Amino acid sequence: MELPFSIAWLGAILGIVLLRLVASQDCQRQLENDMDAKEAPCMDFHQHACGNWHASTLQRNLGAHDMRSQWVARLKLQLIQSLEQADFNSSSNSAAPQLATFYRSCLQSGQSIRTYTDALSRSGANFPLLANNTDSFDWVLANAALREYGAQGLWRLLVQDNWQSADQRIFYILSPKFYLLGRDDDLMEFLYERYLKILLLELGMRVRKAALLAAKLVAFEKSLQKLVPNDVAQTLVLRKPHSLRDLELQLPGLQLKRYFDALLEGIVWDPASLLLVVDLDYLQGLQRLLADRTLDAMTMSTWLLLQLPAHFELRLHDDEKLSSQQEHSLEQLRKLMPGPLGRLQMQLVLGESYQEAYDTAIQQIALLFQDLKQQFELVLNETEVFHDDLATRNLARDKLRAMRLLTPRLQDPNNGAPGTPLMGGNCDENLLQLSLNQAKLEFRQVFGEPASSAPADPLSVNAYYRLKLNRIELPLGLLATPLIQQQCSQEADTMAKLSAGLGYILAHEMVHAFDFDGLNYDASGQLANGQWPARAIIRFSLRAGCYLGDRYSNATLTVNENIADSEGLRLALDTYRSRSAAPNLRTFFLAFAQNWCGTVASAAGSSLHAAHAERVNNVLGNIPEFGDTFQCTATSQMNPVDKCRIW
Ligand SMILES: *[C@@H]1O[C@H](CO)[C@@H](O)[C@H](O)[C@H]1NC(C)=O
Ligand SMILES: *[C@@H]1O[C@H](CO)[C@@H](O)[C@H](O)[C@H]1NC(C)=O
Ligand SMILES: *[C@@H]1O[C@H](CO)[C@@H](O)[C@H](O)[C@H]1NC(C)=O
Ligand SMILES: *[C@@H]1O[C@H](CO)[C@@H](O)[C@H](O)[C@H]1NC(C)=O
Repeated sequence: MELPFSIAWLGAILGIVLLRLVASQDCQRQLENDMDAKEAPCMDFHQHACGNWHASTLQRNLGAHDMRSQWVARLKLQLIQSLEQADFNSSSNSAAPQLATFYRSCLQSGQSIRTYTDALSRSGANFPLLANNTDSFDWVLANAALREYGAQGLWRLLVQDNWQSADQRIFYILSPKFYLLGRDDDLMEFLYERYLKILLLELGMRVRKAALLAAKLVAFEKSLQKLVPNDVAQTLVLRKPHSLRDLELQLPGLQLKRYFDALLEGIVWDPASLLLVVDLDYLQGLQRLLADRTLDAMTMSTWLLLQLPAHFELRLHDDEKLSSQQEHSLEQLRKLMPGPLGRLQMQLVLGESYQEAYDTAIQQIALLFQDLKQQFELVLNETEVFHDDLATRNLARDKLRAMRLLTPRLQDPNNGAPGTPLMGGNCDENLLQLSLNQAKLEFRQVFGEPASSAPADPLSVNAYYRLKLNRIELPLGLLATPLIQQQCSQEADTMAKLSAGLGYILAHEMVHAFDFDGLNYDASGQLANGQWPARAIIRFSLRAGCYLGDRYSNATLTVNENIADSEGLRLALDTYRSRSAAPNLRTFFLAFAQNWCGTVASAAGSSLHAAHAERVNNVLGNIPEFGDTFQCTATSQMNPVDKCRIW
């Protein structure tokens, strides 16, 4: 099938071989390294493939608990080492010295709370604690100034997709998150109160006074928290947006127009067309609270004043071990300078001619995506789900064809974000400057300038499918992992690993467009309930019902992921087999499994996905070719009779 594609794909791979400085590796030996060959492949393949996998102490200190987090930990180590040691003065990457200056300033120099309080003073809010004058505190200006630096104040202002049209971004006003206070947690509350006291002492207050005031600050924050019902776990509830004018009438006490005037200074905007999604219950409660005459200005103003250093976690990391401090400083770079950090990362991974190598890799990924689409289209053309139902078959095909793949652009260092400040030796100043810049950029997205490439996040390795945009997005971190940046000495191994790694990831995301959620959205990402007739939905559900069987724990919760896992690997495998002259299925299955070595983080509660071992084993159990390859008997664990397959 489709010979031109496979030739082009191979060509792209060969192109990379020529360009890349990375030495090619013996991938078979690497596969063996992680394996525990004593475990029978037909009993528990995850154990067979991953029984000897482990992360080093250094990597575990940086969060490695499975293969993916190990990739991230490796990337972090590489960045940390280079930021601490490399001399970038003669680097071709002009952003690198800036990154190093910022990183080193935060790791080495002392920080001071005064930088943060001075920044807030410049808002003109007139804080009594600083100004000695209790009458004229202007909380509206203080609240806006906090947000200019990315911090939350009396509310949390976010820039999010519009609930109706995903290509428009609008403001959301939600209740604050009480990160440091916690909820009904005495220990957290105690620690938080002590933290606020330390900040007050640093501002020159006497111990007894600081203790009293800190207690009042916590009490004030708890009165804010009481406005939020206990069960508001969901952060973004889809609600109809309000106009600013409408909200001004409903909530005159909050002075929203003045707030946005202060916040959006320097940006051209029209109050008449501003749309806001708000948590109305919270804002009404807040309005009542602010109208309370017993509310003490010293308490509220000081609470707002300390939200800024608290947002930047001033002093919270002072006692931590070095690796945590390094990670924290790197985390700041990731948040505030993702573009330049991503560029540095690709330079470290790909060598000096990284731009060229990166562009080639992107082309290669695009070709792989094309191949997978072709293969999937073939399947949609033939599936029984649309038997005698040409209209729905065409709908599905149109949606597949319209699906886009968004990959990150490497930020051009000579044409970076306008007005990126020059980094100096003061960590606090650097943090504030960058935050100010970033918030402005974010606000501009509300008034035009929508995002046109995938996030440049250099430390994220999770691809995702956006239902409402019908597109797959790959973050930059993923492109720096061995999934893409690995060259095997045997060409056939490279192909098998690429197909079972990135090929599988892309296929998994593609299948999400046609899972129980996906089938309600059309080619342009509009919600289109009922676009499929009952007949097709019934046929789909009958087949998908297999994924709700006994083999799956928490099946109803994880069903869409289980569909994407199995159907995705099926698609990746078929694409690989039709594109490769001599496919090596053993390598393909091992490589797939090994990308899921280790266990999910215990606390992370990723309840939408089953545990790695269960995922891998259930997926492979659905693929007859797996049983054939490893000669599993009809009664073995890994070869269940009830094999699930929709497409
Ligand atoms: C790199 O440049 C900076 C500023 O120009 C200078 O302070 C630093 O000493 C230089 N580093 C080396 C190793 O030359
Ligand atoms: C605050 O007021 C007190 C008494 O009114 C005065 O002694 C003190 O100097 C003032 N402090 C500042 C910073 O203005
Ligand atoms: C699927 O069917 C359509 C319509 O018959 C055809 O144009 C298209 O080429 C087919 N796709 C593949 C990959 O065979
Ligand atoms: C099922 O989900 C619950 C919560 O969503 C989780 O605590 C539990 O560990 C899950 N069980 C398995 C076997 O994954």
